[in-house]
Amino acid sequence: DWDPESFVESTVAQLQEKLGDDKVVLGLSGGVDSSVAAMLIHRAIGKNLYCVFVDNGLLRKDEFEDVLASYESLGLNVKGVDSKEQFYTALAGLTDPEAKRKAIGKTFIDVFDHEAHQIEGVAWLGQGTIYPDVIESVSVKGPSATIKSHHNVGGLPDFMKLKVVEPLNTLFKDEVRAVGRTLGLPEAILGRHPFPGPGLAIRILGDVTPEKVDILQQVDALFINGLNRDGLYDKVWQAGAMLLPVQSVGVMGDERTYERVVALRAVTSVDGMTADWAHLPYEFLANVSNDIINRVKGVNRVVYDISSKPPATIEWE
Ligand code: XMP
Repeated sequence: DWDPESFVESTVAQLQEKLGDDKVVLGLSGGVDSSVAAMLIHRAIGKNLYCVFVDNGLLRKDEFEDVLASYESLGLNVKGVDSKEQFYTALAGLTDPEAKRKAIGKTFIDVFDHEAHQIEGVAWLGQGTIYPDVIESVSVKGPSATIKSHHNVGGLPDFMKLKVVEPLNTLFKDEVRAVGRTLGLPEAILGRHPFPGPGLAIRILGDVTPEKVDILQQVDALFINGLNRDGLYDKVWQAGAMLLPVQSVGVMGDERTYERVVALRAVTSVDGMTADWAHLPYEFLANVSNDIINRVKGVNRVVYDISSKPPATIEWE
């Protein structure tokens, strides 16, 4: 039988054998997989693991600071890199979802490559690839692979020429969480919803600007904090908000307003391949909607997405 303690013990020994005194660079995303991979490699080689956590300006509100602080408190050798402007510049004026994904992927590679070059003699690239990623990247392309180009897997540019170390590539998600728990990762990281690599850029329909990111971060935070407060966070598989390229009429006091519309999306799912819209309580939706409209300047209407996948996808882009 598989158990996380013996997995950690044998994997750490194998990693030590394989890596010796070599240096490894690993990109942290804030998600479960890269975090657990980092903790495991760190357990094996300590400071020879160089973690890079990039702020692409498309993360959730306060996420970069919060997650960076928890990585540091876990003892990881981590460098936080503020690349917001570089990403916003690359995204400027782009409206096509795939063009946005490509610009983000390319910018990430540029930033990461630059950071990797700062680490003298680095020999390995650490990755949080898990078993389902391995399967997905070799199988006949499923809908999510053909409709959208995901950047999690195989994103290694040739010119980096590093050997790859992927200590989680035989594990399923729940096993990864169990390993993370054994390694002392906080529940806040282990239990978090999936979040797409391109982040809020694919939840802002149309072109991305820092102002729109700011509005969407505020809306998203009210929604996610509300889910946490009402004990609903763990009942949904993923949740987030979309900023629509639409303005609608409203009233505020005696004034007519003409402001933005946001859509909330929450789904239940097992693996993200199919999903049902989450039947969140009306009371909860009413409170979140009020919160958002009262507190986020520039938004005067909130709608809830009641589409299932298929045929709708989870993300709107
Ligand atoms: P869809 O929208 O295809 O999403 O139903 C399924 C899952 O994949 C995530 N997703 C992405 N993740 N890069 C990622 O790393 C992407 O470009 C991307 N697009 C969608 C989505 O958040 C959901 O969990």
